[in-house]
Amino acid sequence: MLVSRSMKLACVLVGLATFSAAQSSSLCGGLPFDATCSTLLTACVNTLADINNPWANEACVAAATCHSAPINAFLAGLSCRIQGPGPNNLTAVNLPRVSDAVYNNVAGGGNITYDAYKNWFTGVALKADPGVQKLIDIAEVIANFDPILAWTGFCSTGAIPKQTFLDWFQYSSTVGGPATACGLIPPCLLHQYSVAFPYTIDLLVPCANEQSALSDPFSINVCVAAALNDIDGVDAFLDAVTCRYNVIFGTNNSVPASNTLPPLSVNIAQTSPYSQQNFIDFTYGTLSSLQASVRWPTSVDSVITQWSYILEWTNFCSTGTVPEKNLSDLLLYSHVLLGQTCPNSS
Ligand SMILES: *[C@@H]1O[C@H](CO)[C@@H](O)[C@H](O)[C@H]1NC(C)=O
Ligand SMILES: *[C@@H]1O[C@H](CO)[C@@H](O)[C@H](O)[C@H]1NC(C)=O
Ligand SMILES: *[C@@H]1O[C@H](CO)[C@@H](O)[C@H](O)[C@H]1NC(C)=O
Ligand SMILES: *[C@@H]1O[C@H](CO)[C@@H](O)[C@H](O)[C@H]1NC(C)=O
Repeated sequence: MLVSRSMKLACVLVGLATFSAAQSSSLCGGLPFDATCSTLLTACVNTLADINNPWANEACVAAATCHSAPINAFLAGLSCRIQGPGPNNLTAVNLPRVSDAVYNNVAGGGNITYDAYKNWFTGVALKADPGVQKLIDIAEVIANFDPILAWTGFCSTGAIPKQTFLDWFQYSSTVGGPATACGLIPPCLLHQYSVAFPYTIDLLVPCANEQSALSDPFSINVCVAAALNDIDGVDAFLDAVTCRYNVIFGTNNSVPASNTLPPLSVNIAQTSPYSQQNFIDFTYGTLSSLQASVRWPTSVDSVITQWSYILEWTNFCSTGTVPEKNLSDLLLYSHVLLGQTCPNSS
């Protein structure tokens, strides 16, 4: 399972992103962890004309499909962002159904298949913010569609008829469906520690789109930045990349063992050994080079802490700088989360 629904919910609670809409994220819940979903919710809040008719707004319909909690919780959060916190009487059963115009955009005249959903969902997000293109996490898109398909009872055909799809928006909060999952979701490892740091995912997702991400990841800037910043460790990084890569490229590769991969060949800075400042510049520089609407680290402290983990594992706490060879060894042989900072750092 990619990121379990309860895990996603936990992310909402620990979400660190700030939000420019009417109400702050702390009062109304953080933005969704997934970049595409976050873009859609922001667009929904900024463009919704009538809070009592959210399903006339395409961004709101899309945002509801990627929200990890039940529809009524989505509506409560939406109302909070638009009207402020307080007692909320928006409930799905009382709202107008999804408009024909929006439905036809999703389905293109037929029933709703995964491909139709994916094209529509990503299209709405890109219309709201073209900068999200490289950050679209295909595993999340599948994870959005799978429970809807299951609730409507069409796992077998993979295509949801119109009225049943509309029912999902109206009743899924209060009525159970025949199944909770159809099993479309690729078996991606839970990103247990990284979830609070969306920038690590905004490095991981573009990495998974690289053709040689599984054969030679440490020759690719964005993959190296993703691996070195992955709080869960290199094995978890490789698992998460493989899982997405297989969906993107239609392959069935197993996760490569890090110690069989070619060594690090990306230069973190012009000269090795690399300093903390080199690592910070490399991380921010790589995020910037994506030319995408990335989530920046909330504070540079998380990058500094990660460098301290790296120093401790490589045994360079005393100098504070790491030679390229030893950084390469970390990528190949550290495997699990690092977990220990230098004794002299806070
Ligand atoms: C929601 O609450 C407002 C204010 O209390 C009220 O005016 C409105 O009629 C309520 N709407 C519904 C659908 O109950
Ligand atoms: C939509 O799905 C229903 C139920 O499976 C099926 O009877 C109908 O033929 C489908 N319509 C189209 C256009 O595929
Ligand atoms: C992918 O590989 C696994 C194990 O190597 C196998 O069980 C599974 O059936 C394969 N899936 C496809 C679609 O080939
Ligand atoms: C750094 O790597 C070199 C070459 O593999 C190795 O000889 C050395 O012991 C490593 N340094 C530390 C502090 O582990």
